[in-house]
Amino acid sequence: MEAVMRVGAISLACLAFCTTCLPCWSRAQTPGDAPHLTKQGNATQLVVDGKPFLILSGELTNNAATALEPMEPIWPKLVSSNLNTVLVGVSWAQFEPEEGKFHYSLVDGVIAKARENHLHIVFLWFGCWKNGTSSYPPYWVKKDYERFPRIQIGEGKTVSISGPVELLSTLSEATRDADARAFAALMGHIKEMDGAQHTVLMMQVENEVGVLRDTRDRSPAANRAFAGPVPQELMNYLQTHRDTLIPELRDVWAANGYKKSGTWEEVFGPGKPASLEIPIQTTAAFLGPLEHENSWQNLHWASDEIFMAWNYAHFLEKVVQSGKAAYNIPMYVNAWLQQPNHAWPGTYPSGGPLPQVHDIWRAGAPDIDILAPDLYLEYFDSVCERFTRNGNPLFIPETSTNSANAIVAFGKYNAIGFSPFGIDGNRPIPPELAATYSLLNDISPMILAHQGTDTITAVRLNQGDSPKHVKLGNYTLTLTYTGRSAHIAPQPKGETIPSQVPSTLQAAPEPPLEAAAILISTGPDEYYFAGGGMRIDFTPNTPGPQNIGLGDVQQGKFVDGKWVVTRQIAGDDDAQGEILILRPNTILRVTLYRFP
Ligand code: DGJ
Repeated sequence: MEAVMRVGAISLACLAFCTTCLPCWSRAQTPGDAPHLTKQGNATQLVVDGKPFLILSGELTNNAATALEPMEPIWPKLVSSNLNTVLVGVSWAQFEPEEGKFHYSLVDGVIAKARENHLHIVFLWFGCWKNGTSSYPPYWVKKDYERFPRIQIGEGKTVSISGPVELLSTLSEATRDADARAFAALMGHIKEMDGAQHTVLMMQVENEVGVLRDTRDRSPAANRAFAGPVPQELMNYLQTHRDTLIPELRDVWAANGYKKSGTWEEVFGPGKPASLEIPIQTTAAFLGPLEHENSWQNLHWASDEIFMAWNYAHFLEKVVQSGKAAYNIPMYVNAWLQQPNHAWPGTYPSGGPLPQVHDIWRAGAPDIDILAPDLYLEYFDSVCERFTRNGNPLFIPETSTNSANAIVAFGKYNAIGFSPFGIDGNRPIPPELAATYSLLNDISPMILAHQGTDTITAVRLNQGDSPKHVKLGNYTLTLTYTGRSAHIAPQPKGETIPSQVPSTLQAAPEPPLEAAAILISTGPDEYYFAGGGMRIDFTPNTPGPQNIGLGDVQQGKFVDGKWVVTRQIAGDDDAQGEILILRPNTILRVTLYRFP
């Protein structure tokens, strides 16, 4: 048995089997290049110092890094939970407290501490907007409402509805230029500090932009723009991309006759009348079952949301261009999602980078690299599906600490990164997440070599789920839930485990494990599996003998790109070679053979 094997060797073997699985770092990369994105098959990967990189991260609460001293106890927590990156907010108010005077010491301090702890950073630029509203701009911006106008909603109200909610308008060049200048200063400084070391990987530009409490801005300037023609630039984009537009958008354009020009309402249908009140987010009426099923994934008063998406995108394109001119690293925007019971624009930020308006964002802000979901919803997979349409890369800047979701994001949706929100919060970081990050780190060379090809996928299984069948490589894999139990279940392959596991088999009164695993086919008869809580059976899908034997079953991990075996499995651990269980938090390399 060869206990050590290079990923390169595996990939070469794999190349004979699948021509699309060349690892992307085999292409010429310069270690000195700034972090950037590259395509591998249908995946987009982040390249750091010449190698693709998975961001295993967490986002700090909003104001955690507004001073360095309170951060001291947080750094070791991040390290001991196996994060390799942390998402950190930068407040415009703190960065430019007086116009034109930039304060760099906090940013420098955060970068220095991250380096000391061998962590990377994604900075979140809390500029004009944060959760739709404008609480992070400096005092000199906030108080000058003439130079920096606010939106209006309803029938001419300024923005205060149930409290002092305040949104800067997208339609002011002065506001846009002030934000862009500050962001460019930040990026220029990051380049100076980090252009060689690459501690900072990417930038989030603003946070969850969009109009709240109404479907669109109704200030006089906005009403004038809304009554005018859809910009030619957007019409050209729609026509050029007509066949590949996101269906929700194409449907509204089609319903209005695929017009090539006209006002927003002529091209996309009616907006909401100003007099019609919509419930505010917290008091939105419950939807009926049908609406619950469908309505929250569609455009409502489409022209309003599309108009706002165009204006936010157009504004942010200028900010991003200014930032990239100073230092060009990947930049993304994040979306507060539409959801059941918050289905109408305005109950979530209208015009944010939501899936139904991704095309509008692509047209208005081509320099934004990623449109990212803040993904707290239970419909994790379907949101990932919607955010990866038309090649949008998946980066999840905010989510819960659900480990199964991390596995599915990287293995099935080619994610660049995963980042639970509030990682510095009062509660400890769950050990399950720390274990999953360790596992993902150990298998990352293999994930990165296969993302974007048809040789990698992931599954999740909950207790009581029927077995899943996945065609991968030369075999169909049948995955059956086993949960935390290390016990080899006696049931025949493909049979559902009863949802009540006998109490004698339960190690501790914990909630049932949500099982998840990344499955990678690396050769005609070779697989890597990472994750756990399931039994794996194989059925050949090529001609030849139908009986399958387990060849080498090795538990291990990649160290410096080499596969290192930590346990060779046979005998009692695989029922004398008859049953393969992927136990929780395990990486297995498995070879198969066939016999008559
Ligand atoms: C989403 C925002 O983007 C975060 O900054 C934070 O406010 C969370 N919501 C709080 O749940």
